[in-house]
Amino acid sequence: MKDAAPQTIHLADYAAYSHLVDSVHLTFRLSPDATRVISRIVFRPNPDAPAQPFFLHGEGLRLISASIDGAPVTPTLTETGLTCDVPDGPFVWETEVEIAPAGNTALEGLYMSNGMYCTQCEAEGFRKITYYPDRPDVMSIFTVRIEGAEPVLLSNGNPVAQGAGFAEWHDPWPKPAYLFALVAGELLAHPGEFTTQSGRKVTLNIWVRPGDEDKCAFGMEALKASMRWDEQVYGREYDLDIFNIVAVDDFNMGAMENKGLNIFNSSCVLASPETSTDANFERIEAIIAHEYFHNWTGNRITCRDWFQLCLKEGLTVYRDSQFTSDVRSAPVKRIEDVIQLRARQFREDNGPLAHPVRPESFVEINNFYTATVYEKGAELIGMLKTLVGDADYARALDLYFERHDGQACTIEDWLKVFEDATGRDLGQFKRWYAQAGTPRLSVTDEFADGRYTLHFSQQTPPTPGQDQKDPRVIPIAVGLLNPNGDEVLPTTVLEMTQASQSFSFDGLATRPIPSILRNFSAPVILERATSNAERAFLLAHDTDPFNRWEAGRALARDGLIRMILEGAAPDTAFLEALQAVARDDSLDPAFRALAMGLPSQDDLAQTLFDMGHTPDPQAIWQALETLKQAMAQHMQDLLPRLYAQYQIEEAYRPDATQTGARALANTALALLSRLDGGAQAQRQYDSAGNMTQQLAAYGCLLTVGKGTAATTAFYEQWKHDRLVIDKWFSLQIACADPAEAVDVTRALTKHPDFTMKNPNRFRATLGALTASPAGFHQATGAGYALLADWLIRLDPLNPQTTARMCSAFETWRRYDAGRQGLIKAQLDRILSTPNLSRDTAEMLGRIRG
Ligand code: ARG
Ligand code: ZN
Repeated sequence: MKDAAPQTIHLADYAAYSHLVDSVHLTFRLSPDATRVISRIVFRPNPDAPAQPFFLHGEGLRLISASIDGAPVTPTLTETGLTCDVPDGPFVWETEVEIAPAGNTALEGLYMSNGMYCTQCEAEGFRKITYYPDRPDVMSIFTVRIEGAEPVLLSNGNPVAQGAGFAEWHDPWPKPAYLFALVAGELLAHPGEFTTQSGRKVTLNIWVRPGDEDKCAFGMEALKASMRWDEQVYGREYDLDIFNIVAVDDFNMGAMENKGLNIFNSSCVLASPETSTDANFERIEAIIAHEYFHNWTGNRITCRDWFQLCLKEGLTVYRDSQFTSDVRSAPVKRIEDVIQLRARQFREDNGPLAHPVRPESFVEINNFYTATVYEKGAELIGMLKTLVGDADYARALDLYFERHDGQACTIEDWLKVFEDATGRDLGQFKRWYAQAGTPRLSVTDEFADGRYTLHFSQQTPPTPGQDQKDPRVIPIAVGLLNPNGDEVLPTTVLEMTQASQSFSFDGLATRPIPSILRNFSAPVILERATSNAERAFLLAHDTDPFNRWEAGRALARDGLIRMILEGAAPDTAFLEALQAVARDDSLDPAFRALAMGLPSQDDLAQTLFDMGHTPDPQAIWQALETLKQAMAQHMQDLLPRLYAQYQIEEAYRPDATQTGARALANTALALLSRLDGGAQAQRQYDSAGNMTQQLAAYGCLLTVGKGTAATTAFYEQWKHDRLVIDKWFSLQIACADPAEAVDVTRALTKHPDFTMKNPNRFRATLGALTASPAGFHQATGAGYALLADWLIRLDPLNPQTTARMCSAFETWRRYDAGRQGLIKAQLDRILSTPNLSRDTAEMLGRIRG
């Protein structure tokens, strides 16, 4: 029976667990519908814990037997676990439970994917495997025995015994239950080896289903590069004899850093030139690095409680972005990250789901694996590094690993390390962790008698539950340029601590042009009244590549807003400035491709809303179309030359150089298609030797309405490959005319290959619709109704993925009364569904307000 309203958990209520766990021994007897899990857990009273009844988490378990020190006991079972009278001193707890992995569609705990057993325990999935104190501050040493007919039986740590129908694993490093993992199935290994800096040999494997073994080589190289990088940059060495990665088709998220046994969504590890785009390769490299880096930031040092999630995630995202910057292009990575930050985190921070990087309460922790915790969390690390400098950052990190290895820590611990290493007071900096919302940083300037002054003021709008915001420390990187383009002040970090603050620069012969917030030194919205002439100047001359790109972006945004609000024509100054960048062969092609990109529909909607207007999704889409057409016409002579110049003759490599060249050529192709009706795109499609070329051409053909033949051909060519067919689903929706996007989506949900049980396929379809604002926000409300229909169907099967997709509605208050009414009706319809999951109920409750 469903019961009382779900509980809200508060950070302020944290209390240590009653016991310490000295060791855990688990035996799994695998069977799809009746897996037996036998546990033997050695408990000892925790001297530092307040008095409390003995409690173990457990959900959906059938208890077969329980004993303490060998004597049978009868625990009291509750909704969420069990209680039991236990001895005052140490004791051995044993239970046997039965679970049914084949029926587990939530993909949390032990479940089956394509006939293989796998687990996902973070955040609170271990309680669906056996009774246990399923909280990250309870760390223990695990030994695991797996009994099953599957040829490959994997768990955490090092292998200790193996025979017909069984395997035993021992993990010497204490860990919380969320890092437990088990995999069993008919899998093939792509093997590798790594020698650590101290000379230990580590066996590496990427385990895949038969048929995928030709898609592992890139991931293996990325893994080795990550291992080397963490030694060289952070001094962190791997600590087991073996490191296994497993690719799983049905997975709610990207990947999981289980100790010594990382489990990946197959889309985040499998790669081949024929089936993966350059963007896929870059993302796979970053995720492999991310999960590997967790071995130190997350596993060796973990979180005390789930409110501290950003302790491991913010830091690890920051580390993986440093890695990508080092192995690819730092400016390109920064621009890509900021595009994503604005698209996902700013959107979240400026709507009903806004929450602090360290939240203070939650109902379902899975709802807090957010852009705010991850990406804004990483921005906070970057700001800290900017404030203390590289050398002190390195010293603080050394101290962090030295002081906290083997512990479950808090943000207080993290900041204290920086305070101790640098002598700085980070009391004010801590507000970044506690206050939600994106600060607006407005700036004016003046010049007199050789003195140039910048006046800044910061203000953060209220967010749910937080009306008042205190001023934060903001590192503002600035540079000054002369009108002739020379830099008169190289990048300097201003440390703003007040609500309003001014900074002056003396001895200047002429009024300089400021380049503010270089490299996006803080996650804020910069507001500055400036001229398009100045933006064009910065786009042409700024020495900071990020701000160069940013100037072009601001120019584009401004022009688009005038097109939308005033019916203005595309801005010729913008087209000229852009063409100058596009044809400048001294600039990195990847940078030029990014500069030729335009603000997203969602970005423009938020900008209009911030300006006090009600965004019209159709008008936004139309303005973007008009501008792209104008760009194509304006650059009609340049485009064929660019396209030809950046064709690659050499063998395919997914590195930064080739990726940049293909990005620029494909950007040119997209514009060219608007002039030649897709003729060049068809030629590229027909001759494409890799997925980057094929998919880009297919997208162009769909966009200009010539995609029908390619749609059939693409499907026939790739129907055996799930990950490629995901692309086929999503691209048809992404490139559909907005008026048809809902119908296209609905038709695809009726395709025999559509299944809501696979999160990748569900996201490729419904997620593609919600990512196309003009299509999703069709005035009839058909997009809202279609999404709601599917969320209602998916929720009983997979609450996590359902809840995550609810964020499609988070911007609803931006829109007109008609759309708001239609959305609200759908929110209410979903909310009134009987037995709605806690995950979805919490999300919709917060969105609806
Ligand atoms: N720790 C994983 C990562 O960042 C994410 C796992 C989250 N999974 C979940 N069901 N909440 O790589
Ligand atoms: Zn992570």
